[in-house]
Amino acid sequence: MGPTRLPLTSYRKLSIALALAALSTVAAAGSLNATGAWELAPVGDAPTPPMGWNSWNAFGVNVNEARVMGAARALVADGLAKAGYRYVNIDDGGWLQRRTRDGRMLIRTALFPSAAVGGPDQTSFRPFTDKLHAMGLEAGIYTDLGRNVCSQAWSPDNPNLPVGTRAEREVGLHGHVRQDIALYFKDWGFDYIKVDACGIAHYGVDGPGGKQGKFRVFPPLMVDQNTAQSNIPAVRALYAKVRDALRTVRPDGKFVLSLCNWGAANVRAWGKDVGTMWRTSTDIQANWSRMLHSFDSVATRELYSGPGRWNDPDMLEVGNGDFDQNHLVQARSHFSLWAIEDAPLLIGYDLRRAPRSIIDVLGAPEVIAVDQDPAGNQGVLEYTSSDYQIIVKTLSMRGQKAVALFNRTGEPAKILLNAGHLKMAPNEPIALRDLWARRDLGSFTGSRVFLVQPHEVLMLKVTGKPLLATGYYLSEMTGRINVARDGVLVPEEDPTIHRPLDPYTGSTSSDGTRPVYAGWGDPRADSTPYDDTLRVANVSYRYGIGALANSRLQVKADGSFTRFTARVGIDDTTRGRAAPVRFEVYGDGRLLAESRPMHFNEAAAPLAADVAGVKVVELIARQIGTDEGAVVVTWADAALE
Ligand code: GLA
Repeated sequence: MGPTRLPLTSYRKLSIALALAALSTVAAAGSLNATGAWELAPVGDAPTPPMGWNSWNAFGVNVNEARVMGAARALVADGLAKAGYRYVNIDDGGWLQRRTRDGRMLIRTALFPSAAVGGPDQTSFRPFTDKLHAMGLEAGIYTDLGRNVCSQAWSPDNPNLPVGTRAEREVGLHGHVRQDIALYFKDWGFDYIKVDACGIAHYGVDGPGGKQGKFRVFPPLMVDQNTAQSNIPAVRALYAKVRDALRTVRPDGKFVLSLCNWGAANVRAWGKDVGTMWRTSTDIQANWSRMLHSFDSVATRELYSGPGRWNDPDMLEVGNGDFDQNHLVQARSHFSLWAIEDAPLLIGYDLRRAPRSIIDVLGAPEVIAVDQDPAGNQGVLEYTSSDYQIIVKTLSMRGQKAVALFNRTGEPAKILLNAGHLKMAPNEPIALRDLWARRDLGSFTGSRVFLVQPHEVLMLKVTGKPLLATGYYLSEMTGRINVARDGVLVPEEDPTIHRPLDPYTGSTSSDGTRPVYAGWGDPRADSTPYDDTLRVANVSYRYGIGALANSRLQVKADGSFTRFTARVGIDDTTRGRAAPVRFEVYGDGRLLAESRPMHFNEAAAPLAADVAGVKVVELIARQIGTDEGAVVVTWADAALE
C-alpha cells in the first residue's frame, strides 16, 4: 500500500464499520473424496518463479517511460536479463482515463511519450511493449479488481492521477474485465498483469477512496486484517474472472497473473487455483522488520506453492534502505530468503544508479539457481525459533539441497546444522558449498556448527547421501503436493508471523500488530498444522505431514514411484480428542489402503500402499463423527519410494 496511507488505527476502524455490510463466508472447501485427477491447472506460464523488475519499490507513483526503459536497459547491460530477469512491469501511476465513448483505456502520454500514436484520445502501449520485446524482455501492466486503483485512494495529491469525470477516472477492471484484458494482452502485447485490490477494499463510504466523494462508492468485499469480515468467495470469483479472460485472450497460456490482495481474504489457501502468484502479506518496506514480516508470511506455506503457482512475499527491496550497498549482509539475506522460498524475484530498485555491489547481489547465479530449481519445492523450516531458523529446500538433483542458516538477531550466532535437518545419512560425508562466495567449504559428517553474523543468512548447497535409499519423504517434495482440502473449519490467523510496528504510522499509537493472515491449521511439512513437532502417543516424529482431519492432499506421483509408506495417528496437539480418524490412501481414485479408526493416544499405525504406475496419490484423513475441537492428524514419515 502506498507510502502516504492513512494511519492504520483510523483505517482499521472504518474498515470494520464498512464490513458490517459484507457477508462473511468461508470459501467453498474442496471435496473430501478422492477425485483421481490432479486438480491444479496452471494459471498462465511460470514453471519457475517469475523474475523481473517493477517500478513500485523504486519510484512509487512517480513512474514514467524514461525510468522504466532505464531499468530495462540496465537489466540488459548489467547482465541481469541473462541471469533470468525478463519482466519489466509498470506499477500504479500511468493511467490517464477511460474513454467515455467506448470504455477504452487511455495512457498519460506526458509520462509515456511513446504511447502517443494518433489524435489526443488515441494511445497505445504497443510501441512500448515492442521495444521491450525487441530487447528480449517482456512487459507487465498494473490494474485493480475494483473500479479505482490504490493511488487514487492513498495518494490523492499525486499530480498524475487519472483525470476527467467520475466514469473516466474509473481505470480499474470492474465491469471491463474482458475489454481491458483483450486490450492489454491482444492489442498492446503485455505478458504479465498485476491486479491490485484497493478498488474492492478502500472505496466504501468511509474508506480513503470513498471519503473523498470523487469516486463511485464500492461496498468493500474485502477488509484488510480481518478475514472474518471479508467476502472470500466474492473476491476469489472476481480474480477467477480475470483468469478466465486471460485464458480466452491467450489460449496458449502465455501470461502471468499476479494477485495483489495482500494476503487478505484467505488468499493463501486459494491463490493457487486462480493466479500464477499471490501476495501473502501487506506491502514490504525497505526495513528489516517489514522484510521479516513478508518472509514469515510465506515460510509456513510450503505446501501451497509449486511449479506454476507461487507464494509471493512481495517485491524485492534489495538496494533500498536497510538493504542498500552499506548493508550488503542484509541485502544478501533478503535475497537468499526469497530464493529459498521460491519467491518471484522482482527487483524494486532504480537500476540506473545501481552500484556494482547491488548488481552482484541481484545477479548471484548460484542463489538464483536455488530459486529457479525446476522441482519447485519451497524451503521447509527444519528448525525454527524467534532467533535462528534452518530452512531446507530439496533440489531436483538427487542428494542435493539448498540450506539457509538464518540469524534473525543482532548478535553473532552459532548455528548447528546436522544431517537430520537435511534428511541425509548421519554417518556419510556431506559436502558444502557457499552459494554467495561460490566456493566449496569441504564436508562434515553428522553435524557442524556455523558462525553466522547478525542478520546474516548463510546460504549453502549440500550434497550427501539421502536418508531414504530410494525415494523421498513427502516433506521433500512439496512442489508435488496440492492441498485439495485443508480441513480448516473457519479460517484462523497465523500467529507465527513477525509483527512489525504498524507500517504506516511506525509508532505504538494503535492497539498493536496482531496476527492478521489466515492460514493457521493448514497442512504443513515436518510440522503439525499448528507449528508444533509431530507427536503421536508421546512419540516424536521429525518428518511427516501434519494436517487437520477431513483434509485431502494430492501428490503428483506421475507414475515414478512404487510404494507409499507412513505411520498414521492422531497428533498429541489435537484440540478434539473424541472423534477417531480413518487414514485412506488412493491411487488415481482407487482406494489402495486404509487404517482402522485411530484414536487419540493410540500409537501411530503403519500404513503402506502399492502405487506402481499411479499418477495421483491422494491422502485423506476422514474424521468419524463429530468433535468439539479440531482433530489434528499426523502422516509420520510419509514417503514415496
Ligand atoms: C498496493 C500494492 C503495491 C503497489 C501499490 C500501488 O499497495 O500492494 O505493491 O502496487 O498498491 O499503489
